[in-house]
Amino acid sequence: MAADRSRPIGVFDSGVGGLTVVSAVLSRLPSERIVYLGDTARVPYGTRSAQTVLRYSRNAARFLLAHDVKLLLIACNTASAAALPGLRSELPVGVLGAVEPGAEAAARVTDSGEVGVLGTLATIRSGAYERALLALRPSLKIHLQPCPLLVPLVEEGWNDPSDPVSDLVVRRYLTDLRARAPVLDTLVMGCTHYPLLRPTLAKVAEELWGHKVSLVDSAEVMAQATERLLSEQGLLLPKSPETELHPTERLRCFVTDEARVADVAARFLGQKLPQVELVDL
Ligand code: DGL
Repeated sequence: MAADRSRPIGVFDSGVGGLTVVSAVLSRLPSERIVYLGDTARVPYGTRSAQTVLRYSRNAARFLLAHDVKLLLIACNTASAAALPGLRSELPVGVLGAVEPGAEAAARVTDSGEVGVLGTLATIRSGAYERALLALRPSLKIHLQPCPLLVPLVEEGWNDPSDPVSDLVVRRYLTDLRARAPVLDTLVMGCTHYPLLRPTLAKVAEELWGHKVSLVDSAEVMAQATERLLSEQGLLLPKSPETELHPTERLRCFVTDEARVADVAARFLGQKLPQVELVDL
C-alpha cells in the first residue's frame, strides 16, 4: 500500500488554466507529487463539441495512466462536463472532475437558494452544473451564464481589477445575469481561468446585486475533494516534514505545444514553472 500511496496524482486540462488546481493541491497536500498535462495544442476545449472533448480527454487520461498515477483530476470544467462519466466507468483509478466539488460548495454556501454558474459555452450547454446542483438540492434555482470572452482575457493577462477591458466584459455578462436573477447570492466560477478574475468578479457582482456575492472557486474545492477522496481510498500520503518538498519539485509538467506556455503558465501556478516537457498525444 505504501508503494501505491507514493504514486503521483495525474491532472489534466485543455491548457495551462488547470495549474490553478495544481497550485491549490500542492499547497493543501504538501507530500503529494503531481504529473500535469496541458493540452495546449488543442486549447480551447470550451468551443468544441462534447464528442470531441471526450475524445481529447481519453487521450489525456491514457497519457497520465502511463505515468502510473493513483488518481486522475480533470482540472477543466469543460472536460469534466463532457467526459467525467465516461472516464469514471472506463479507468482503473479514481477520477475527480471540477463540476461536482463546485456544485457541492455552492449548494452549501447559498442562503437565497439561487445560484449562478459562469462557464465556457460547452460547459453551460452541457447542463452538467444544473444536474449536479439539482441532484444535491432540488429546490435550488440555477441561472446559467456563458462567458466565452473571459478565457482569452485571462490568457492575455488582462485580469487586474483596474483593467478597464476586463471590467467592461465582466460587467456585460453579469448585467445580463442580474436581469434574470435578482436574488442570486452565489456564483460558481465554473472555469479554470476565472479564479484569476476573482477580484473583478467580486467587485462588479457586489455593485450590481447591491451586496456581497459568494464566489465558489472550483480550484480550491477540487483540492479539498482530492484530499477527501485519497483519504477514503487509503492513498493519501501523510503530511510529514521528511516528505515535504518545494511545490515545484513535486510537479512534472507536460504540454502538447510550447508557444506562450512560459509567459502564461506562471500566472496560473502563482510561481515559476519547472521545466516543461513537450509531448504528442
Ligand atoms: N479549461 C477550460 C475550462 O475550465 C477553459 C479553457 C478552454 O476552453 O479550454 O472550462
